[in-house]
Amino acid sequence: MNKNLKHIAIIMDGNGRWAKERNLNRTAGHEEGAKVVRNITTHCSDLGIKYLTLYAFSTENWSRPKLEVEFLMKLLERYFRSELLIYLKNNVKFKAIGDLSKFSKKLQSVIKDTEEKTSSCTGLTQILALNYGSRDEICRAVKKLNKQNLEPSEENINSCLDTAGICDVDLLIRTSGEIRISNYLLWQSAYAEMFFTQTFWPEFSTQELDDIISDFGKRERRFGGI
Ligand code: FPP
Repeated sequence: MNKNLKHIAIIMDGNGRWAKERNLNRTAGHEEGAKVVRNITTHCSDLGIKYLTLYAFSTENWSRPKLEVEFLMKLLERYFRSELLIYLKNNVKFKAIGDLSKFSKKLQSVIKDTEEKTSSCTGLTQILALNYGSRDEICRAVKKLNKQNLEPSEENINSCLDTAGICDVDLLIRTSGEIRISNYLLWQSAYAEMFFTQTFWPEFSTQELDDIISDFGKRERRFGGI
């Protein structure tokens, strides 16, 4: 494994279009997408990747139809309940980023429980971005800085972000053909290599991830140097 690849972040897009192409309800796309979350997480764990951050629900996703939002909330709850044993079996630590206070008490509690029960795992850390938006995260970080009377240095800002203690993103992938970052890990992706694939998330495979990782290895990263 490429030792310079520690942190992969993915914008899992295209669930709805995948379902539409098959004359299915959009929710069927999310259901299928959740299975891919598991496959890709296990694969990254096998590859020895340190951090995998997945965009599961954005601060803007609340504007979707009520029924779809409700479905996603239930799906997340179900996912955490069924996933715990798999996290533990694979030595995967789970962490949530985002403003969790907007979720139901029940969902907040299952998220917290999953974080606690996997806290001593030492392999991959799977980070789910939940009610996450970079601008919201940066605003919350600035409030924390002010409260602690800290000067706004890069180090202090880093330590107040939801991703405190986690290294910057090395590789950022977006599925479904859209070429934009959509308020995702803006600070943390300052020097990330970006890959955009046409594949809809429910069809994203471990083979395609391997191909992207292989291309990543051929990119020359200069971090602003020469
Ligand atoms: C984008 O597809 C996907 C989302 C808004 C949510 C991502 C959710 C999942 C992959 C499933 C649930 C996740 C977990 C961790 C259980 P879209 O609906 O925007 O697709 P479209 O652009 O084709 O409409």
